[in-house]
Amino acid sequence: MKNIMENKDGKLYNTMGSVVAEGFTCKPKHFDANKPIMHLKTQLFVCTDERCGKAHKDKDIAATLREAIKEVNLSKGEDRIKVVRTGCFGACRFRSVANIYENTKINGNPGNNGVWLKNVHRYDKDKWKRLFIALKDNVSIDSLDEFEQVPMSDPSFYK
Ligand code: FES
Repeated sequence: MKNIMENKDGKLYNTMGSVVAEGFTCKPKHFDANKPIMHLKTQLFVCTDERCGKAHKDKDIAATLREAIKEVNLSKGEDRIKVVRTGCFGACRFRSVANIYENTKINGNPGNNGVWLKNVHRYDKDKWKRLFIALKDNVSIDSLDEFEQVPMSDPSFYK
């Protein structure tokens, strides 16, 4: 959490520019229910539940991904990528699993929205960076063989 805070004039600020309440790492001192959430172009949901979590050699995969995002300068600005840990997606047989959400209400790429990645526990940091840069450049993940996807069943299955 420390890496998302800045120290200006002796006060701690969170990434939204709010002064942080004493004893907290990101809670704003002055609550404003109408303040918008921080912009993101792409959000990566990474499963860290029991099965996927065990498959990751990295004990804190979300922190590693945030570090990689910073290294490719996508932790803020127009093309910001956000990482969120999730519970089980019910897709454990493809572990570890991650889901790409594109912010199509603003500047997300509809073509990469809803992509499910499998075996992400096998990715090294460089591969993650290649993924993040491809997302920023709006390259279709479908066109990149190195990022294997979870197959989706056809809705006709339920008819
Ligand atoms: S534990 Fe990750 S999909 Fe089930």
